[in-house]
Amino acid sequence: MVILAKNAGFCFGVRRAVEAAQNNPGERKVTLGPLIHNRHVVESLAARGVRCVKSVDEIMPGEAVVIRSHGEAPKVYETLYKKGNTVIDATCPFVKRIHKRVIEAKNNGQRVIIIGEAGHPEVDATLGWAGGAAIAVYTEKDVNSLPEINDAVVVAQTTITEEKWRHIVSLLEQKIEKVTLFMSICSATQKRQSEAALLAKKADTMIIVGGRESSNTLKLVEICKKHCKNTYHIEYKNELLLEKMSFGDIIGIVAGASTPDTIIREVFDFMIDNDKALPITDAGQADAQQPAADGKADSPDENESDGDEIAVIAKTPETALNDYENVNTADAAPPDSQSISDEAASEGDSPDNSETIGDEVKTADGDEQPAETAEATEQDEFLEGLEKVVRLKKGQIIKGTVVLVTDEDVCVNIGYKSDGVIHKNELSLNDINPKENFSAGDEIEAEVINLNDGEGNVLLSRKRIEKKQNWIKIQEKVGSGEQYKCTVKKAVKGGVTARIEGYSTFIPASHLSLKYVEDLKEFEGKEIDVMLIDSDKRQERLVASHKNVLLKEKKQKEKELWHSFKKGEVINGVVKRLTDFGAFVDIGGIDGLLHISDLAWNRVNHPSDVVTEGQELELLILNVDSEKKKIALGYKQLLPKPWSTVPEKYKAGDTVKGKVVRIVPFGAFIQLEPMIDGLVHISQITKHRLEKVEDALRLGDDIEAKVLEVNADKRKISLSIRALLPEEEHKTEVKEDSGKNEDFNYEIPPIQETKVSLADFFPKKDE
Ligand code: F3S
Repeated sequence: MVILAKNAGFCFGVRRAVEAAQNNPGERKVTLGPLIHNRHVVESLAARGVRCVKSVDEIMPGEAVVIRSHGEAPKVYETLYKKGNTVIDATCPFVKRIHKRVIEAKNNGQRVIIIGEAGHPEVDATLGWAGGAAIAVYTEKDVNSLPEINDAVVVAQTTITEEKWRHIVSLLEQKIEKVTLFMSICSATQKRQSEAALLAKKADTMIIVGGRESSNTLKLVEICKKHCKNTYHIEYKNELLLEKMSFGDIIGIVAGASTPDTIIREVFDFMIDNDKALPITDAGQADAQQPAADGKADSPDENESDGDEIAVIAKTPETALNDYENVNTADAAPPDSQSISDEAASEGDSPDNSETIGDEVKTADGDEQPAETAEATEQDEFLEGLEKVVRLKKGQIIKGTVVLVTDEDVCVNIGYKSDGVIHKNELSLNDINPKENFSAGDEIEAEVINLNDGEGNVLLSRKRIEKKQNWIKIQEKVGSGEQYKCTVKKAVKGGVTARIEGYSTFIPASHLSLKYVEDLKEFEGKEIDVMLIDSDKRQERLVASHKNVLLKEKKQKEKELWHSFKKGEVINGVVKRLTDFGAFVDIGGIDGLLHISDLAWNRVNHPSDVVTEGQELELLILNVDSEKKKIALGYKQLLPKPWSTVPEKYKAGDTVKGKVVRIVPFGAFIQLEPMIDGLVHISQITKHRLEKVEDALRLGDDIEAKVLEVNADKRKISLSIRALLPEEEHKTEVKEDSGKNEDFNYEIPPIQETKVSLADFFPKKDE
């Protein structure tokens, strides 16, 4: 039976580093030392043109330097920066976190003790970040040799064993007064080691696949040897010693974090082909076998290797750390509460995959918190940081700093491998001059439109962001009543087209005017105001209405007009329509009512007796109700009242003509003009005495009379027919009747209420 450990092969950090070296094949790259402790991988990279150098002195100008997952000391970054080389920083984020912690300790004046092998690249890099006060210890002898220390922060090389950590920590706690622990063993390593121990206890033979210089592989060998005497460390399948195994043996295979999947697969297949392997029956391992054999069981970031990933770039030692800090959640938890999650955890696996030493981790204050909680927090932080570090995708919105502005482009440092470039036509929806609008140092936001423009730059666009923002903004204006100016482009079926804020806009024919539009082409080229009434989100198109603007304007005018009308003001109007009860008059867009009773002082049977349609009139505003939109107009009110002109028109002694309109016992009323009646007393009709008026006058008779007296205030005119008769007859009659009996004691109703002739107020003679 062959059992392949589930956690075999590249860890997250190693995979990330290898991919960083493999990306952008055309680029000249070097690694400072072997990228990983595996000859096969190093040779494969060399074949792709990735040089491996031992020191920075060997690095040529223009070469990009891939920093290994172990990390480097700040002085290395500094040197590379001075030399002008691009740095592709593939330091494992777990290792970066240790760097951050030791810098904090250094700044706090604490001593840093690293439990790890002096001379190991990871330990050397961490010592570099911790400054001169840091010390690496790995054995009891090392601890005993320590100088007197009162306060120390203790971190671990990520690949040491848990057993080693516990042992050295217990020694340190006896020797140092205050020890703050930062348990930084990578949990991927822990899991790999505990799985190896478990397997070694079961197996008759253990095969450990990995480089002979690989620290984590050597530790796996060490662990397995403790539980299985037949433990063999090989780098390739041809080193397998089949003669040392027997049919029916349980053969366990584990591999170091720097062992490529292909090599593990070769070893596994070789075992199967030689009939030394049997199908897996153990449920837990059976699941593990196939994926591991495919080289995928231990690839938490498999799905993230989509070709869009690029490693973070560091330009100076400070930015090397800052870049990391900026993309991590350093504030999320106290540093001492941190432990390192493994690559499986980064995939979102169950907490079982996130082991820590013991059940608890200590915090800086000495408090303890459940290991699972700390681990979960750690995983969240790590995932968050990772996302920001490695991903750059088309359509992503990123922030950067302008580093160079030319007439045609704006170059932006986006904190990644390559700078971003925004071409002039991608800067804005408007045609803008790059130099007039941007300067080096400006913060800028842009969308990634291409990861490589052919010259290694990331193509960016601000215009797309503006467009998206504009679309959101303009969407909010739909139905809001906000007006836009646009020029009609052309008439199409059912309406016309235009552009508003860069968006294609359709104006339906029914929304072009308040009236029916016969010919849509008459709008072509015209600038009109419109309101947005709808939008097509999918096609980013707008629908607008000019009619709504016209309606709004009309309402506004009406409103202003209504407020301009004041009761008692005189206005001009044109008669629009006649009805039985009056006339409607247009007084400037609004129709007012001229009631029949306000047409004339005298009785009017129908408005047409006084006015005609289309006639212009001067009118008095009698009343305004802007709420109910009603306005009452008066015409007669601007005409003189009938009796007001009587004193000028009628004087005593004048001869007047009139018509008999009513006969009463004491005389007859003579209409001199509409609303103006005079009275001829019975004694003033003839020279001889009359028994009754009808003996001399009939209704409707036209007569001529002399004005005897005028009293306009009382609306009385006294007339005499007799006075115009020949003299002699007159004299005789005068003697007989001097008119003493004339009755002037009749009452006249108020003129405003008068709808009839004065004569109407008296009973007829025969009534
Ligand atoms: Fe990083 Fe752990 Fe691998 S520290 S490089 S993921 S063993």
